[in-house]
Amino acid sequence: ENTNENLVELLRTQRDLSDEQLRTLLETDAYDEALFAEADQVRRAHYGTEVYIRGLIEFTNYCKNNCYYCGIRRDNRHATRYRLTKDEILECCAEGYALGFRTFVLQGGEDPYFTDKRVCEIVSAIRKNHPDCAITLSIGEKPRESYQAYFDAGANRYLLRHETADDAHYAKLHPVELSAQKRKECLFNLKEIGYQVGSGFMVGSPYQTTDNLIADLRFLQKLQPDMIGIGPYITHAETPFADQKSGTLELTLRLVAVLRLMFPYALLPATTALGTIHPEGRELGLKAGANVVMPNLSPVRVRKLYELYENKICTGEEAAQCRGCLEQRVRSAGYEIVTARGDVRREDA
Ligand code: SAM
Ligand code: FES
Repeated sequence: ENTNENLVELLRTQRDLSDEQLRTLLETDAYDEALFAEADQVRRAHYGTEVYIRGLIEFTNYCKNNCYYCGIRRDNRHATRYRLTKDEILECCAEGYALGFRTFVLQGGEDPYFTDKRVCEIVSAIRKNHPDCAITLSIGEKPRESYQAYFDAGANRYLLRHETADDAHYAKLHPVELSAQKRKECLFNLKEIGYQVGSGFMVGSPYQTTDNLIADLRFLQKLQPDMIGIGPYITHAETPFADQKSGTLELTLRLVAVLRLMFPYALLPATTALGTIHPEGRELGLKAGANVVMPNLSPVRVRKLYELYENKICTGEEAAQCRGCLEQRVRSAGYEIVTARGDVRREDA
């Protein structure tokens, strides 16, 4: 009884649908055109044509975890491991600042070398050099006290994808010592401390069902994160999932658009993984409702080594090249990169 437009229209006005309606929307391409158009309208109403840039610094690929999907998992003996020094990280930030970045994202494996003391020293040093910048951490699950210490040192945002909200699905993607419940607890702790929080999930991860995706959307409705990062799962040969298929462009774009309509205020990145599965993946992501891009600021000599999945893009480019490349891509999609911290714009804020 629902025409294409009115299911999409309903999602826009209610910012919600029943599970059955979401299933209908997610399981066919019939609604895509209407969905992308509506999502773009909503992004323009909230953020105009602005696209925020985040300078990504991948500062270590050592990891104590063994997630089955991830190329830098502990048991991948073929990975060449590296860590950046504090000075190298500060240099990346200085270079980024000169290029117009006002947000730095420090991402890494869960590397015990980076104790709370070391993380706090790095964060304080960035805070001192760049008082006007946002500092985002993405270093995994930590005790609440550690999150508090980083926050007190000057970090203000944290990215921790929930990966999948379903316990049983989570257990298929991770070894027993990791749990969906623990991960969710971390996210609520981060929020309570006062971080702007980013969560998210991989699209098309092994064994993922439409029900799992609906559970992801329901969890996000509970968490109400400021940022939601999604990208296709992409296979890596040196993992237990070597024989699994990667996620698709189509389903990822559909979910970006659904997220924009459910969370009009959210910061939604057009991710590197999306740019990896399709040459224009990031442009298409922007047109489906995304409003953030995250160019790489890591030194070129380590870029290839942060190999979460195969054929990752941007591994040969200098920071300035990556910045320039994205400038053009964003413009070609009909939007514009702005030099701003790009804080979340909640209607109630
Ligand atoms: N260690 C931190 C953590 O777990 O949050 C940050 C680094 S982790 C490598 C960053 C993200 O990479 C994960 O949240 C996951 O969604 C994504 N990722 C890992 N392996 C991937 C793959 N094979 N394809 C796509 N994304 C992947
Ligand atoms: Fe990095 Fe194009 S965005 S090279």
